[in-house]
Amino acid sequence: MDNIEHIPVMLKESIELLNIKQSSIYVDGTAGAGGFSEVILKLSAPDGVLIALDSDENAVNYVKLKLEKKFEKKRFKVFHSNFSDVDSVIRDAGFEKVDGIVLDLGISSIQLESGRGFSFKDEGYLDMRINTDGKTTAFDIVNYYREEEISDILWNYGDERFSRKIAKKIIEYRKKKLIETPLELSKLIKNSIGCRQNGRNKIDPATRSFLALRIAVNNEYEYLMRFLDKLKNILNHGAVVCILAFHSGEDRLVKNFFKNNKDFHIMTKKPLVPSFEEIKANPRSRSAKLRAASFICQK
Ligand SMILES: C[S@@+](CC[C@H](N)C(=O)[O-])C[C@H]1O[C@@H](n2cnc3c(N)ncnc32)[C@H](O)[C@@H]1O
Repeated sequence: MDNIEHIPVMLKESIELLNIKQSSIYVDGTAGAGGFSEVILKLSAPDGVLIALDSDENAVNYVKLKLEKKFEKKRFKVFHSNFSDVDSVIRDAGFEKVDGIVLDLGISSIQLESGRGFSFKDEGYLDMRINTDGKTTAFDIVNYYREEEISDILWNYGDERFSRKIAKKIIEYRKKKLIETPLELSKLIKNSIGCRQNGRNKIDPATRSFLALRIAVNNEYEYLMRFLDKLKNILNHGAVVCILAFHSGEDRLVKNFFKNNKDFHIMTKKPLVPSFEEIKANPRSRSAKLRAASFICQK
């Protein structure tokens, strides 16, 4: 894990939108490998405060160590928590409201390569839980859910147009044997949709199904909605919320929330996307969409 680096996506653009100032309080709701957290602390020096959280305990430990090496302890607090509980985390950190929040959704390169089942090359357990306290794994979904349920997950969360076909093959396969590893599942998916590449970008045929399973295992849409619903109660006037999404469903939730909420001034009429250079240097950034809005306190 130590050898793998996570390159933060659209860091410069996000930080510019957040407009970091000293004497202010910020939340990094998806601390990951600490790339955003580190820059927020640098730019808010000498007295800005950061509340960082992540639902993956490994990420929390990693970020704590990283920040402790570079910043005074009194300037940051790191929590093992879900961003859907952001209000109670802010209270536990000793504050009521904050001046900016960033979410960089999904998983980091460290997690992708961690052998916890996120990568379709993994040969270990088909897990995919970001928080290992979670009850359901990808193994449970593919081996025990009904065909319609699997097909709905692939369609709703992964926009997988071969969802029915893949679900049918999964059911046929598991009559003979449980699907045990990510590699086994990705081969099964490839076999069920043949060489038809998934979309114009020629991504691996298993990409959309793996994304969909990860979203389902980790209740990603539900947590994002709960987070958005809490924003009004935890933001100071003028506070900026910056959200980086990596697939259309997630981006749509953010877009509609800002659009339908008169308490927010939209700062990105269209979502910002990574530059050609960034995509070339970090292909993982290719699907990123960045939206930001500032909070207008009506009182
Ligand atoms: C793309 S990474 C963030 C990388 C980070 N911005 C950086 O620069 O290193 C996303 C992180 O969000 C975390 N995460 C995903 N869903 C979460 C949730 N609901 N609550 C808290 N953290 C979450 C993941 O564990 C992962 O570490």
